Amino acid sequence: MTDLDYIKITELTRKFKDKTALNQITLSIQEGELFGLVGPDGAGKTTLLRILAGLLHITDGQVVAAGYDLNKEPEEIKPHIGYMAQEFSLYEKLSVMENMMFFADLYDVNVKNQKDRIQRLLSFAGLTEFKNRRAAHLSGGMQKKLALASTLLHDPPLLLLDEPTTGVDPISRREFWNILTDLHLNGTTIVVSTPYMDEADRCSRVGLMYQGELVICDTPGNIRRLLDGDLIKITTSDWQEAYIVLSPLAGVKEIQTYGEALHILVDSGKKRLPQLTRALKKHNLTVIEARTASPRMEEAFISLINKMESRK
Ligand SMILES: Nc1ncnc2c1ncn2[C@@H]1O[C@H](COP(=O)(O)OP(=O)(O)O)[C@@H](O)[C@H]1O
Ligand SMILES: [Mg+2]
Repeated sequence: MTDLDYIKITELTRKFKDKTALNQITLSIQEGELFGLVGPDGAGKTTLLRILAGLLHITDGQVVAAGYDLNKEPEEIKPHIGYMAQEFSLYEKLSVMENMMFFADLYDVNVKNQKDRIQRLLSFAGLTEFKNRRAAHLSGGMQKKLALASTLLHDPPLLLLDEPTTGVDPISRREFWNILTDLHLNGTTIVVSTPYMDEADRCSRVGLMYQGELVICDTPGNIRRLLDGDLIKITTSDWQEAYIVLSPLAGVKEIQTYGEALHILVDSGKKRLPQLTRALKKHNLTVIEARTASPRMEEAFISLINKMESRK
């Protein structure tokens, strides 16, 4: 770590009574990064973002963000960040434009610049043609974009976004990420949490959180490369039975379940694929699909989480 870290988190612990939501997190984020916080429900993502936003006090450890020591001056950071809460609220009865004007006043955006800025942001978020529509009548994806546009009104250098795409359809998710990528290219530092592993691939660096711990923090490429071996995907007539048949076979390192499909990590895909399908057929299981595939972030994350669980 250097003094140049834009966000420097050192042994951060946050407790809620006897529940430890964050356990000794150490993490640095550089200016201009698009940093993803990934992890299942309860991992501690919201708690970490709320601490960075100056909204929660620190139980133990240090956090310095954008030059502010959050133990001493949590209030001072607020004008320098755009924070989009997981449960953000828009004024449903107000139109898109009226919502923007309301938040512009709240953030003290200079009245002279307000109109210009609002128009630019609405256009940036693809909302110009909906500016007179009531927020209540926007699609989920458009509401998220409006919430993002409103957090950008005061031009914050640091954006903290808590699951901004949860529950949104895949096309709107992609549009939202295109906007984030534009902001990233313009130099905004972004910390964004997501439960969607595929979104992690669009970040410059990713931290995987699990039960209050930072399990790993690296580039998507490096995290994917942590999986040694090959991936085989198999769908059969009975995944539970298939799981039992395949688990003890030679070369099988780990099996992950994805609905009806099994993703099997093996030492060599080419060598094991025929052996695995033969074993399934011998047990009278119908093989619907069996092929090798390239591992994604998702398999890497789940593998890391499985290793943590088995250590407990
Ligand atoms: N205000 C609170 N009071 C008590 N426990 C809380 C509170 N906020 C969060 N927690 C607990 O802290 C843990 C982390 O929660 P959270 O940061 O919301 O995780 P995530 O955003 O990754 O789902 C969870 O076990 C949660 O129940
Ligand atoms: Mg959360």
